Amino acid sequence: MWWKTAVVYCLDVETFMDWNDDGSGDLPGLAQRLDYLHDLGVTCLWLMPFYPTPDRDDGYDITDFFGVDGRLGSHGDLVEVVRTARDRGIRVIADLVVNHTSDRHPWFKSARASHTSPYRDFYVWRDEPGEEQAPVFPDQEKSVWTYDERAGQYYLHRFYKHQPDLNVTNRAVRDEIAKVIGFWLEVGLSGFRVDAVPFLIETLGVNRVEDALVHDPHEYLRELREFLSRRSGDAVLLGEVNLPPKDQLKFFGGPDGDELTMQFDFITMQRLYLSLAREDATPVIEALLNRPETATAAQWATFVRNHDELTLDKLSDSERQEVFAAFGPEPQMQIYGRGLVRRLPPMLDGDPRRIRMVYSLLFSLPGTPVLFYGEEIGMGENLEAEGRNAVRTPMQWTAGKNAGFSQARKSRLAAPVVTGGFSPEHVNVADQRRDPDSLLSFMKLLIRRYRECPELGWGSFDVLDQPHPSVLAHSCTWDDGCLVAVHNLGPEPRSVPLQLDEDPATARLVNLLGQEDADLDDKGRVELQLEGYDYRWLRVVREGDRRLT
Ligand code: NOJ
Repeated sequence: MWWKTAVVYCLDVETFMDWNDDGSGDLPGLAQRLDYLHDLGVTCLWLMPFYPTPDRDDGYDITDFFGVDGRLGSHGDLVEVVRTARDRGIRVIADLVVNHTSDRHPWFKSARASHTSPYRDFYVWRDEPGEEQAPVFPDQEKSVWTYDERAGQYYLHRFYKHQPDLNVTNRAVRDEIAKVIGFWLEVGLSGFRVDAVPFLIETLGVNRVEDALVHDPHEYLRELREFLSRRSGDAVLLGEVNLPPKDQLKFFGGPDGDELTMQFDFITMQRLYLSLAREDATPVIEALLNRPETATAAQWATFVRNHDELTLDKLSDSERQEVFAAFGPEPQMQIYGRGLVRRLPPMLDGDPRRIRMVYSLLFSLPGTPVLFYGEEIGMGENLEAEGRNAVRTPMQWTAGKNAGFSQARKSRLAAPVVTGGFSPEHVNVADQRRDPDSLLSFMKLLIRRYRECPELGWGSFDVLDQPHPSVLAHSCTWDDGCLVAVHNLGPEPRSVPLQLDEDPATARLVNLLGQEDADLDDKGRVELQLEGYDYRWLRVVREGDRRLT
């Protein structure tokens, strides 16, 4: 169950490292940077879509599920990446985007051309617009149904109109999706980040009421997981499911755990930003305590930022406005009325204490942490870029030309490099690698400690009583390990008293991130002195404990 304690790193090959200097990142460039990722401590690479694409949704619009986009390299180059990663102990997963295809996919071209096409029923057609649902990108689309002149019918698309939804009630579609999964597992992938899972399994607009999936769409997720596990026993499905906790439990397959292996914890992420805005730990504590109990093998994927907008859709209107006011007050920082296009460090005014405190908290939460490329060095965003592209800028390797990402002419780059206070001159890997006090060095330490503390991936979570609303004190316990973590979300220094259920005669607390240990008094109490935005990780060491500290 490697995923229970993995460190996942998400990247887009196109913006990571350009080895042939044509302006687009590529697979040979990524292969050259696997040692960097290994040194960072990453154990699982999540590759964003690398398939052939007209690129109208950053590769999430696919024309061939079995292909590799020629701009990024070949199948051979991908195999080199997977093989080299494996040598460094890094698994590779990739986006599985099968809720929809590009409208230029051969299936859709055939489907729209004729009623009798074998691919017609691969998509969802209606003579009149079907049931209306909110489009995911409300700035671009007004309906999820679009009339197609050639087809003479309306088709369903939950996302952009150039992304027609596949009809998973059609057995032939499910067989094709299984083939896609089987293909990439044979290439050596360890599973998939599954795009838009609730939309994938929904049967909106499908008329066949007798179809079992119309009655229970989760039947299909069980089928997918069963197939995956049959082909590869330790492969994972890491699902994008931004729903309330009780629905997320269903997507894990409830107590049976026979659907998604992992899910992103969108709720904790959103409530973390509310906590940061309020300098009050209560919202994030509530989210963590509200997580439903899952099957042993299931896992939460924790994160503070991903490649999309920082969605705040599960906050109330007034809570969302609080976060907007604190971290993205300008209209160009906001998107879709529900999210922010910024990265974390600029939102925190580049304050190293706050940035480190947030990542310390992320790595100390129960679950499996997921980083988006560039977070480890504190990259900022490009607010000039269109919408979500603000955070999809080239990786900043050096202070030199094009951030060391590519030697191509600036005008040929896949995306412009960030300028201003977070430009490569100020934020880059080369400088931070040599600096023991850099954010990169701190992230390496956090990752090392996370990996040394399996209780974070496996253990039970408890909030520890203490008097300050700005402080989150918690413990994770599993087997013979117990970690106590304390984070101060506010600017004021706090003296934090904790009562631990330990025998002071035989237990002590070892500081895992710094030098100063903490002493339990004869009643098992400890008083920690935290500066503003300070943090502690303390390992409880009991007599006879043989773990290396
Ligand atoms: C979710 C992905 O994260 C997003 O980037 C994409 O635009 C949509 N799904 C559509 O595939």
